[in-house]
Amino acid sequence: MSDDIYREIILDHYRNPRNKGKLPDADISTHDSNPLCGDEIDIHMKIFGDKITDVKFEGRGCAISQASASMLTEMVINKPLTNVKDIAKTDILENIGLTNLGPARVKCALLALKVMKLGMVNYLASRDPDSARTLEDDFKSL
Ligand code: FES
Repeated sequence: MSDDIYREIILDHYRNPRNKGKLPDADISTHDSNPLCGDEIDIHMKIFGDKITDVKFEGRGCAISQASASMLTEMVINKPLTNVKDIAKTDILENIGLTNLGPARVKCALLALKVMKLGMVNYLASRDPDSARTLEDDFKSL
């Protein structure tokens, strides 16, 4: 696909975000910001068994960060929570689809994934410290 098509997809997610809002009975709620610009993302997830049965995000920021969060919620809903650990930077950047993103824009694109992985690690650590320890290296690589 051309960069123009990807730009349209990003703008569509930015203007019509999927799964945006609060999730009052969330099992996981995590917040973080991009230290370069101060833009923020909150990710809320409802977990049943090992599955993410609902996910919402809140945030303010650039089109790439908000569209990336919207796309990420669609990737994970109704999937096992531990699948989040297998989502790589490259998966997000492929979804965003823009080639030639500079390092600052890459941080924008990865903000939601960073927040989601932080939430997953903290949730798993509260239930099983050993399993969470093995995920920490993956999280630190973001
Ligand atoms: Fe702040 Fe993109 S400019 S997250």
